Amino acid sequence: MSEKTILKLQLPTDPLWVKNVVESNIEELLTDHAYCEQKAASNAITLIVQNPNYPDLVQEMALLVQEEMDHFKRVHDIIIKRGYNLGKERKDDYVGELYKFLKHGGTRQSQMVDRLLFSAMIEARSCERFKVLSENINDDELSIFYHELMISEATHYTMFLRLAKKYAGDIDVDGRWKDFLAYEANVVKNYGKKETIHG
Ligand SMILES: [Fe+2]
Ligand SMILES: [Fe+2]
Repeated sequence: MSEKTILKLQLPTDPLWVKNVVESNIEELLTDHAYCEQKAASNAITLIVQNPNYPDLVQEMALLVQEEMDHFKRVHDIIIKRGYNLGKERKDDYVGELYKFLKHGGTRQSQMVDRLLFSAMIEARSCERFKVLSENINDDELSIFYHELMISEATHYTMFLRLAKKYAGDIDVDGRWKDFLAYEANVVKNYGKKETIHG
């Protein structure tokens, strides 16, 4: 099964993004990537704080925070080893656009399910970007690293979808997920121009 089939993403990233954009500025890629991992951990913490009455969710998010911060540390290790600076957080316009699609009204539960789908969406695209990076980047260390991270983000993607379905109640999760995929495809078509993970 291809990655596209697994992730159901509608628009694949052009591999030329790696050759023409990313490879000219690895330091920028690593800085942005480190903060992507931090934001993934922060998002998991937000899910805990907003939904303390779902013990399974809290348990899984607590583990996820640890894993994402381990990823952050590993990216930071590479930054130090290469003599780069972490620098300030980079704004993630892609995630900002996805965020606009989130439901901000409705019940606590429906907001939680929507945030789980939003999280699944970001994991799916990150996984796809890591795959494109690992297959195309002219850098052995990063190629191996991104292959490993691709597998772990795929696991996160399926975990978020599983949790969304588990807590769906009478919410049409499959329908909402299809809408998310269509919205995301429309957003991502304007990207692939910057040396950032979702850029
Ligand atoms: Fe991660
Ligand atoms: Fe993740």
